[in-house]
Formats: sequence, structure tokens, C-alpha cells
Amino acid sequence: MTVQPNKTQRTKRVFIKTFGCQMNVYDSEKMAHLLESEDYQIISDMEDADVILLNTCSIREKPEHKIYSILGRLKVLKDQNPNLILGVGGCVAQQEGERLLEQSPQVDLVFGTQRIGALPSLLNAVAEQRARVCDVEMSADECLDGDVRSVLPESVSSYVSVIRGCNNFCSYCVVPYVRGREHSRPESEIVREVEHLAGRGVKEIVLLGQNVNSYGNDCGITNGFPRLLTALNEVAGLKRIRFITSHPKDLSDQLIRCFAELDKLCEHIHLPVQSGSDTILKLMNRGYTREDYLEKVHALRSTCPGIGITSDVIVGFPRETHDDFQETLSLMETVRFDDLFSFQYSDRPKTAATQFDGKIPSEVKGERLKVLQAVQMEHSLAKNRALLGTTEEILVEGVSKKDARRVTGKTRTHKTVNFMGGEELRGKLVAVRIKEVNAHVLYGEH
Ligand code: 5AD
Ligand code: SF4
Repeated sequence: MTVQPNKTQRTKRVFIKTFGCQMNVYDSEKMAHLLESEDYQIISDMEDADVILLNTCSIREKPEHKIYSILGRLKVLKDQNPNLILGVGGCVAQQEGERLLEQSPQVDLVFGTQRIGALPSLLNAVAEQRARVCDVEMSADECLDGDVRSVLPESVSSYVSVIRGCNNFCSYCVVPYVRGREHSRPESEIVREVEHLAGRGVKEIVLLGQNVNSYGNDCGITNGFPRLLTALNEVAGLKRIRFITSHPKDLSDQLIRCFAELDKLCEHIHLPVQSGSDTILKLMNRGYTREDYLEKVHALRSTCPGIGITSDVIVGFPRETHDDFQETLSLMETVRFDDLFSFQYSDRPKTAATQFDGKIPSEVKGERLKVLQAVQMEHSLAKNRALLGTTEEILVEGVSKKDARRVTGKTRTHKTVNFMGGEELRGKLVAVRIKEVNAHVLYGEH
């Protein structure tokens, strides 16, 4: 008679904490999927974990600091439980490599952004050899995205990566150094993944890439992204398609036309402008002028009236004068974004801007951010007020976390709407009349 090993006893419990962008959320899902197929169990309480994995972000100084502060707290946990395995992946891991092991004795494993596929074997090496391991190889040409993921039963919306890395080298940005060069997934593989997800009940997909507009360029395909969207628009059962992020310089007329022609493509674009000043845009190496950006916005709105446009802005870039900052405010006035994510400039390792003179004092950056956010608050509120009394199609994501009597969902233009309703509405498209708004949320009834 053979004795089967007791599965619950063999299973190691893994807690994954994710920081940063949607690509990291996607990568963490992949880690979870991979580890679950190797006899690990994903848990939601860190205290019970045998393995803790941090999927980290280094896009700005603040998120990176967060990682070091959580590592400090985890040292206490590790002192209490020396068998605990602590792994650090993502952009900070890629950026710091061996240095992380040297500086943080509580860390057992450092794995790079292209080493997710090797995670089970790396964890085995740590556990079996009681060794500390660092693997941040970038030439590994590891593209695990081909693996069709399992999907949580309640998922209404799912991320799908289409292109990784970035070739643009904006002077402030660490992404090309920690994520490598652009690498597109084959169209057929993406379509297969989306068909699989739609077959499992997913209603919306969000296509991910640092710059989705370059999709296919690395394979010599022209208009690769509009072609991909056109193919995905045919997937049965799928209701909505979104994508992030777009680089203004690569936003083609063909892509703009997709907003008018593809019924599943939602009328929203995140189009980071970063600054309204030509001098600063040049220093940032963005590859477009203020005028170019405004022309793209005009083309988007004439092709697709009512399209939601959101953006990112950096304040206090080196040498940014008061007048440069006013140019950003005036661009905001001209465009009137639906929403804006704004950040104080921070130096990032290896980036060109780190070497620039004319760094802006922290108080000035803070002041500019405050002014800009107040202006945006007014714009967001005005945009939302314009929707009062209209009826919007909402894809319901589930019961609101803040109010159990309400459900929450999004308009096609990516605005959050809450209204009375229950669990049975999850995944449904509902016509909701907008009754009340603030700068961040709309309230309605159906
Ligand atoms: N400092 C401040 N903000 C930055 N971003 C990227 N790099 C930096 C930096 N060094 C912002 C940009 C980008 C967003 C994701 O983060 O606005 O679009
Ligand atoms: Fe960074 Fe610029 Fe690439 Fe965006 S396009 S990831 S800001 S280098």
C-alpha cells in the first residue's frame, strides 16, 4: 500500500503584498497562480504565512520608501519565526539586486521583474539549501504571460498584459531600467487568453502595457494595437475593453478611430501629459509639444464626443519655473481633464534627470502640487455635475465596501457610480440615472 502525503500538511502558506501599478497587480496574480499549481496556498493574513512575498514599486521615491518601512516591520516577524521565508520581487528588487540582500538581513530571496517564472524553483532553493538567493537576470527572455491564468470566480474585470517594458527613456523615469525593453505578446496568444477569461464570466478586460500604443512595433507590425483591439472586439461574451497607458506621441489616428468604431471599447483614455510647458517637455524627453498634445485631445473629442480623458502630471521637475508651472495650469484649463494624477518630481536611480541642475526645493514642489490639485478638484466636480440627470450604462463590480446596501461600478467613461442594489447585480450592465455627485463619485438609481 502506498501512503499519499497529506496535502494540507505539505502545503506552504504564501502571503503576497502588492505595491504600485496595475502591471504589478497582474504579476502578483501570476505568482499566485503559479505557486498554487505547485502546492502552495495563497492566504490573506500575513501573520499565518510561511512565505511572504513583496511585489514592489520604485516609480517614485515615496513608494520605494514604503518598501523599506515594511521591511523594517517584517524583521520583527522574522525574528519571532526564523523559518519564515521573505522574498522581494518587482521593481525595487530589480533595481537593488544584491544590495537588498546586503542591507536587509531579514530578506531571503530577491527576484527580478523577469524572473517570476522561476519563482517556485527559487523558493525551493531558499527552503532546501537554507540559502539566500538573488536572481535579477534581465536577458532571461522570460515571458510567462503566455500562461493562461485561472480567474477568481467573482472577477468581473481582468487585467491582460499586452506589452512589457519601455523604449522611451523619459528623463525622469526608472521603468526602462527596471522593466527592460519593449516586448509584445503575440496577438493570437492575447486573443486566446481573453476568450478564456470571457468564457469564465469576465465581462471587462483592461489591456496593460507601459505604452500600449507601441504594441507590435518590436515585431515589425504596423498599427498593431488598433488591430489587436479590432480582434478583441469580436470575443463573445466580453462587454467592455479598456487599456492603459498611452503615450501621446504614439497615439495614432487609427487608434483614435477605434473609439468610434469598436462598440466594446470604452470611451476613456489615460493620456499622461506630464507638463504643459514646452521647455519642460523637452527636458523630460517626451517627444511632443504642448500643441501636439492639444491636437490629440481635439482629435479624440471630435471623433468621440464625451470621451473621458485622464492624465498624469509631474510638478517641480528640475528647472521648472513659476511660468512653466502656469503653463501646466493653463493646459489643464484648456483640456479640463476628467481626473488627474499628480506627483512631485523625485530623483530615480540611473535616470538622466537625476544629473540635471536646478532642482526645485521640496516646499515649492509641495505648494505647486496643492495648487494643481485644487484646480483639478474643481474640474472633476464640474465634469461630474454635468452628468446630473443623465442615464449611464454601469458595469457592476460588486457590493460597495463602504455601504453594504449599495453596489459600485463604472461608467464607460471610467467614473465610479454607487447605487442601491445587491450582489445579484454583479457583472450586469445596468442603466443608472445620476442623482448626486461629488468630485470623486457619482450616486444614482436604476
Ligand atoms: N518623479 C515623479 N513622478 C514620476 N512619475 C514617473 N517617474 C516619476 C518621478 N521620477 C509619474 C509620471 C508617470 C506616473 C506613473 O508616475 O507622472 O506617468
Ligand atoms: Fe516611463 Fe516614459 Fe516609458 Fe512611460 S513612456 S514608462 S514615463 S519612460
